[in-house]
Amino acid sequence: MAVGEYKPGLEGVPATQSNISYVDGLTGLLEYRGIRIEDLCKYSSFLETSYLLVFGELPKALQLKEFEHEVVHRRRIKYRIRDMIKCFPDNAHPMDALQTCVSALGMFYPLEDLHDAEYIYQAAIRLLAKVPTMVAAFHMMRQGNDPVMPKDGLGYAANFLYMLNEKVPDPLAAHVFDVCLTLHAEHTVNASTFSALVTASTLTDPYTVLSSAIGTLAGPLHGGANEEVMKMLEEIGSIENVKPFLERKIERKEKIMGFGHRVYKVKDPRAPILQDLAHKLFDQFGHDRYYDIALELEKQATEKLSSKGIYPNVDFYSGLVYKKLGIPLDLFTPIFAIARVPGWLAHWKEQLADNRLFRPTQVYTGLHDITYTPIEARE
Ligand code: CMC
Repeated sequence: MAVGEYKPGLEGVPATQSNISYVDGLTGLLEYRGIRIEDLCKYSSFLETSYLLVFGELPKALQLKEFEHEVVHRRRIKYRIRDMIKCFPDNAHPMDALQTCVSALGMFYPLEDLHDAEYIYQAAIRLLAKVPTMVAAFHMMRQGNDPVMPKDGLGYAANFLYMLNEKVPDPLAAHVFDVCLTLHAEHTVNASTFSALVTASTLTDPYTVLSSAIGTLAGPLHGGANEEVMKMLEEIGSIENVKPFLERKIERKEKIMGFGHRVYKVKDPRAPILQDLAHKLFDQFGHDRYYDIALELEKQATEKLSSKGIYPNVDFYSGLVYKKLGIPLDLFTPIFAIARVPGWLAHWKEQLADNRLFRPTQVYTGLHDITYTPIEARE
């Protein structure tokens, strides 16, 4: 068989055909099912956008009502999952806890017929409903508290913030958080989605598919970058330190977290939406000096790196918004995971609809016909 040209990181290699989302990295365009992200953030909600992604079109009023109702009524997690979480180390990273919980969830809901639309619908509802509950439960339990039960009257975003603090959030905070979820819900074939596709192609269950994706999202080059950005801003500490920090990074050829993207060669269209949300929060809850540091870093880094097409990505401003919402640093990436559930589910469904097992090839760089050396003769 002819071997194609090897592309490290599969850059530019189409791994699938998809009609879920579209990115134009040169003009900074992002659409879900053809609808611009700016419009979804303005007019839709996270659950409506999730329906759009997973089922392909915007729901009619009754469909949305039923969908929301089903999600609300499946938010609770089994006591056995809670008992399992109790055994996790308090200092475990919440992404590891989440991946384990999602994987364990699959044991309670064994694989049925992957061609059955009802099975797919129920699995999608369950994952959308329970992932936030598991993140919040781990957060409460690592502090020695009982998990906070979901509150039926609260929307998706408000309920998550409620489960984290046992306090009904301010409506602006809930709205901003809902928009953040919408913003992160889908983004073509990124590393975690690719991981989901590969796992899905083996025809395993959706919990395993999402658990693979969560494991992949955890790394600092992908979802973990939002956490690293906040750490970096804290390390910089002041506007005066931006210049020497940047010069040091560039001299050492180190990456600036929250900058650069494989696809976008302009500023990520999600970054200005997050900046707008940050301003809304600052107006109501007070300014954050780390935002000024971030703005200065963006200005100086853009002067130095824009010739390479390196601009802020979605992770550059998301951490500042989460921080203002009072969310602990190590929950930033699990929140990315909560938001990405509909995107992963949509790709899982799309893969099932036209499945072929992923089995790429490799360029072998090793030796051939090497003589086996007995252990006593090895030097
Ligand atoms: N800071 C400084 N230089 C950079 C950066 C950065 N953040 N990103 C890329 N470059 C440079 C890199 O040094 C290289 O320069 P040269 O050609 O002179 O050696 C060039 O740009 C190409 O870099 P690359 O690493 O080959 O590009 P990539 O497409 O493999 O990387 C990336 C994409 C997102 C992994 C990378 O930009 C990065 O590591 N960024 C920091 C981590 C981050 O913010 N990740 C979040 C990504 S967006 C959300 C998500 O997908 O989860």
